[in-house]
Amino acid sequence: MPQGVHITSAIDNTISEHTMEKIVVSAPATLANIGPGFDVYGLAVDSPVDIIKAKKLEDSPKKVVISETNLPELPLEANQNTAGIAAQFILNKVDADFGVEFKIEKGMGIGTGLGSSAASAAAGAKAVAHFINDDIKDLESLLLEGCIIAEEAIDGGIHGDNVAPSLFGGFIVIPSSRSPLLFSKFLLPKSLRVILATPPISILTADARRIIPKEIPLQHSIHSTGYAGLVMAGIIKKDLKLMGKGIVDTIIEPVRASLIPHFYEVKQAALDAGAYGCSISGAGPTVFAIADENCDLKNIGKAMAEAFEMHKQVTVRIGLPNNDGAKVLARSFHF
Ligand code: HSE
Repeated sequence: MPQGVHITSAIDNTISEHTMEKIVVSAPATLANIGPGFDVYGLAVDSPVDIIKAKKLEDSPKKVVISETNLPELPLEANQNTAGIAAQFILNKVDADFGVEFKIEKGMGIGTGLGSSAASAAAGAKAVAHFINDDIKDLESLLLEGCIIAEEAIDGGIHGDNVAPSLFGGFIVIPSSRSPLLFSKFLLPKSLRVILATPPISILTADARRIIPKEIPLQHSIHSTGYAGLVMAGIIKKDLKLMGKGIVDTIIEPVRASLIPHFYEVKQAALDAGAYGCSISGAGPTVFAIADENCDLKNIGKAMAEAFEMHKQVTVRIGLPNNDGAKVLARSFHF
């Protein structure tokens, strides 16, 4: 075949090894914490997504190159970018005989609370996983570990509550993000709808983690355990009203609310408009509301945007459940 010719294929294992393979990977936005589940709960929505166009570098073992991003503020240095850090960790761990080149298209801004750095890490990890030919024992945990390390490098905290749902989709409970990793995935009900209202301010997770209490009264812990149980019960029973009742956080939300102008008005507006529960998405400033397909979703979104009192600049999204997580969207071979 002449040089420069390429073909696309769903999956074709007959293609020679001496070709250059390129893939397109997507990884979804996530809501971390979900009220009382600080650093422990997260779920994935269908949009926005981060996209990575990845090329396998056959002649550059373990090399990670980030050649393009669509956000000028995102570093191209692989060791400062979560996609690069996660990829490098996995390549080193499996002693890969290849490297990768990434072009990153961010679908979400940095510092929005939608798990932006987590989505990049998940897409990078998924891309490397695709290029690994060998059977790797417990590949899922290896990818997750790479993503958690990448997140830690950016915000200083060890928590897999946003990277895990971006990688695997669904609702994730991850009580241990350190070794040994412990996590479990639950499918999100198809009727779930998540209203996401993002005001035009940016909050860095590292800053939002610095202000949270290091110790809490026993009564708050009891309260949190109880409400977290309700969130989980709602997921297991596919009862979104029950899940919404569990979205009560007396530990983190009151502290971080001070970073989000009109947070309590926005929350009340969402609940008054029929949402089942409402809190801060990740470290904020996005405020999320849980609803189902029968709720007046546009009205909830409008009420939230207006309550911010800067509604023309508030981005409102309606997220559908994502139970797949990061995935390879397309694959091509160049000769
Ligand atoms: N659980 C983390 C936090 C998620 O709230 O700080 C941030 O990405």
